[in-house]
Amino acid sequence: MMIPREYKGREQTYLKHRVLSEYLASWAQKIASTVRQGQSVKLWYVDCFAGPWQARDEALDDTSVAIGLNVLEQTAETWRKKGFRIELAAIFVEKDKKSFSHLVEFLDGREGKHVEVTALHGEFGSFVDEINRLIQGDPAFLFVDPTGWKGVGMRNIAPLASMRRRDVLINVMFNHLNRFKDDRRSFLRDQMRDFFGLSDSDIPPALPEDELFALYRQQLQQKGGVRFAADLIIPHAEHERTWFRLVIGGHHPAVVELFRDVEKRICGAEAGEVRDEARGRGQFKLELGLNHVDSTYARRHDADLQAAPDDLLKLLERSPPQSFRELWPRILATRHITKADLSKEVWKLHAQSKLVLHNLEKGQRTARDENILSLPAERLSQGATPLALCRCGRGTTEHLRTNSRACLPWVDTQANVKHIHPLARPDGMQEYDLSRQPTSQGR
Ligand SMILES: C[S@@+](CC[C@H](N)C(=O)[O-])C[C@H]1O[C@@H](n2cnc3c(N)ncnc32)[C@H](O)[C@@H]1O
Repeated sequence: MMIPREYKGREQTYLKHRVLSEYLASWAQKIASTVRQGQSVKLWYVDCFAGPWQARDEALDDTSVAIGLNVLEQTAETWRKKGFRIELAAIFVEKDKKSFSHLVEFLDGREGKHVEVTALHGEFGSFVDEINRLIQGDPAFLFVDPTGWKGVGMRNIAPLASMRRRDVLINVMFNHLNRFKDDRRSFLRDQMRDFFGLSDSDIPPALPEDELFALYRQQLQQKGGVRFAADLIIPHAEHERTWFRLVIGGHHPAVVELFRDVEKRICGAEAGEVRDEARGRGQFKLELGLNHVDSTYARRHDADLQAAPDDLLKLLERSPPQSFRELWPRILATRHITKADLSKEVWKLHAQSKLVLHNLEKGQRTARDENILSLPAERLSQGATPLALCRCGRGTTEHLRTNSRACLPWVDTQANVKHIHPLARPDGMQEYDLSRQPTSQGR
């Protein structure tokens, strides 16, 4: 693989742009496909800290401005060939005077003009209402890529990201943030609070990287108003340390599924090649036939693949039988694995009788969204009220404990839920309290 010339020496930016481009393309494609149901579709790309910034390519192809516009136009072109019209719009916000003139010159000079563009000169924070007024209820992808953390407080992200049909991708420049996050100077503490959306407390001191990002994701959900959040690591091209972390937020579980797929492709496969090349090892590895999966990604992925089965069993201990559809987004939010990886792990747990997979189809070999997962009866902890679900209505202890294909025994280990909520019950299943059930012999 050859890293494009204009990205030499700034390979991290190349990887950031690859994630942006791949995620945006799949997002746009998915939303555009609703045009088939007769709905009109208008896609918005909002570049909240647009630049152009450190561009070396005349056509600005190495900037998020051109990347965003190109992806939208390619999506519309795909659908145009199938006979459908997709409307496109983009908003660019830039504070710096010189960069803004360059931006406007570029936008004015673009050929074709298939995208309705708006360029806003000034602070991102001052345009939040204007952006919402322009987009209204249309689907929009927001890219937030500041030079540091100033002007990008959670209070500015929230009014935009909390609306439905919005995905937000935020670049957190960890390398920079890490140097100042524990600085006690009051202006910096205020800026950090603003960035994290902390109203009455500071970031806990000396917070390790992963916990810092767990806090950021939690704040993005609670204060930013998104349902799902996850992040990925873009490491320094030549050293084993995090450079950027890209954080995704959105309202549909598909957000995390797509994000983890993109992470595997870009941070796993492509980053491996890009970083090998940057370190002058590309040719050597190619000749030896060694694979290029990036070491930073591989370490995280492998450790998380090992940890994910325990996460899953713990979730099942705490709540009633759940469908795979409800479980995977919660695991993928924190673990750097794909949905396909997790589905295979679930199958292994099932084969080892560590959990029970219900409503399986003939020939199935991995877990699917509609499969219900429960703990096997022997994992019910002592002293708690064992509840069970049964479809056939016989409801004896023996039947419920042994007929694991039809019955879903689970336990309320918290001892604070007395019944399985009707909405959590798979269709047609009845609830039984095993501690009160007579055995069939006792009848
Ligand atoms: C990291 S650069 C953006 C790079 C661009 N997204 C890309 O990937 O090609 C950040 C840009 O935001 C601009 N900027 C800084 N603070 C800003 C603010 N508060 N509001 C809007 N733009 C700002 C800077 O002038 C700079 O051009």
